[in-house]
Amino acid sequence: MADKISIPRGTYDILPDMSYKWQYVTRAFRDIAQIFDFREIVTPIFENADLFERSVGEVTDIVEKEMYKFSDKKGRVFALRPEGTAPVVRSFIENSLHKSGNIAKLFYSGPMFRYDRPQKGRYRQFYQYGVELIGSDHPYTDAEVIALADSFMKKLGLKGYRLEINSIGCSKCSPRYDESLKKYFGLYKAELCPDCLRRLDKNPKRLLDCKNNNCRKIAENAPSILDFLDNECRSAFEMVKEYLNLMNVEFVINPRIIRGLDYYNKTAFEIITDSLGAQNAILGGGRYNTLIKDLGGPDLPAIGFAGGFERLISLMQLEKLSFGPEPAPAVYLVVLGENTIPYALEICYNLRDKEITVEFDIEKNSLKAQMKAANRANAHYALIIGEEEMDKKKVTLKNMTAGTQESLNKEELLLRLNSPIDNR
Ligand code: HAM
Repeated sequence: MADKISIPRGTYDILPDMSYKWQYVTRAFRDIAQIFDFREIVTPIFENADLFERSVGEVTDIVEKEMYKFSDKKGRVFALRPEGTAPVVRSFIENSLHKSGNIAKLFYSGPMFRYDRPQKGRYRQFYQYGVELIGSDHPYTDAEVIALADSFMKKLGLKGYRLEINSIGCSKCSPRYDESLKKYFGLYKAELCPDCLRRLDKNPKRLLDCKNNNCRKIAENAPSILDFLDNECRSAFEMVKEYLNLMNVEFVINPRIIRGLDYYNKTAFEIITDSLGAQNAILGGGRYNTLIKDLGGPDLPAIGFAGGFERLISLMQLEKLSFGPEPAPAVYLVVLGENTIPYALEICYNLRDKEITVEFDIEKNSLKAQMKAANRANAHYALIIGEEEMDKKKVTLKNMTAGTQESLNKEELLLRLNSPIDNR
C-alpha cells in the first residue's frame, strides 16, 4: 500500500462539520466591520521578509524565532506573513491610500504563519481577523476600534472574556520607563531566563510578559508604566477611558500589557479569557503612530487589532453558543423510476433557481434508500416524484419533521417552499 502523506505539524483541516461555524464567525466579523464602515483589504500571504523585520521588530519572538522565511529561485528573501498589520501598512503606502484625505478604515481576515511550538490554541497556520484605522490620533478612534472588538464579542454572544487596556507611552515617555525597568530587572540578573537576559538591554518591556515562572514573580513588583506617562499620553489615555464609558464598553486597566510586537505606542489592549488555558488572548491590538513613517510612508498615526478565529470558536463552543443552523437541504428529491428523471430534474432546477437548497442522489433507486438518505441529510422535506405524480403534473411533499404529506402542483410547491423558514 502507498504511504500516506499527513498534514504539517501545527496545521489542521477545516472539515464540513466545522466549516459552517467558520463561515458564521467570518460573516459576523465582516458584518460588524461594515457596520463601523470599515472596508476589506486583501494582501498576499507572503511579503519581503524585511517588512516584518523592520515593523514587528528584530528582537521579538515573531521575528527572531517564528518566521517562515524562504528564498525564491532568484534568491529574494520572503516570509509567510506572521501578522496582518505590516502588510496592510505596506499596501496603504504603496497604493497612496492616504490621498483620499479621509481616515482609512480597513479590515481583513486570512491565514497567518508562526513557527511556534504547537499546543491547544496555538497553531503554525492560524486565521486572524483584524482592523486597521489609519490617519487619526484622536482618542475617540482608539475607543471606536476597541468598541468594534467588543461589539463583535457581544454579537457572538460571548460572556467569558475581559477587555484589558493600558497605555505604553510614546517615544518621549517610554525610554524613561525602559530605564527604570532596566534598573529594576538588573537587580535580578542572576535569576532571569536567557531570553530575558538578552532582551534586558534592547527591549526591557518584554520582560513583563515572560512566561517563565521565576521571571513572572520578579515582574510582579516591577515599576508600572502608568507612573511614567507624560502629560500628553496620560490625558489621551484618560480620554480613551471616557469614550469607552460613553459607549458602555466595559474594561479593566492592566498596566502589564505591553504586546509582543515593537510597533506599538500609547493605547494597547487585549481581550482575555480565563477558560482556554495558556493561550488566553482572544484578541490584541493597539496604537502604532510611527510605523507608517518608519516604513517609508507619510507621517500618519494609526490603531488596530487582530484576533484568532481558532480561540474565538473554541470559546464559543465552550459557552455553547449558536453558529446558526447546520447546513441541510430544504428538499431531498426522491425519484421513483428512470422515466420520471427529466420531470424531477426540471423541478429540481426550478427550485434551485429560486435559491432553494435541493439534494438528489441519482444512484439511489428505491423509495426506502432515498427516504433514509433524506433523513441522514437532515432534509426538511422529501419531495417524492413517481410516475403517478408525473402524469398528474404534481409532486408529493413530505414534511420530514411532522411526517405530514401533501400533493401539490408546481406553483403550490413554490409557494409552500418560499417561506424563509422552509428554505434552509
Ligand atoms: P498578536 O497579539 O500577535 O497581534 O495576535 C493577535 C491574536 O492572534 C492573538 O490575540 C491570538 O488570538 C491570535 N494568535 C496569535 N498567534 C497565534 C497562533 N500561533 N495560533 C492561534 N492564534 C494566534 C497581532 O498580530 C497584531 N498584528 C494585532 C494588531 C493589529 N495590532 C494593531 N493592529
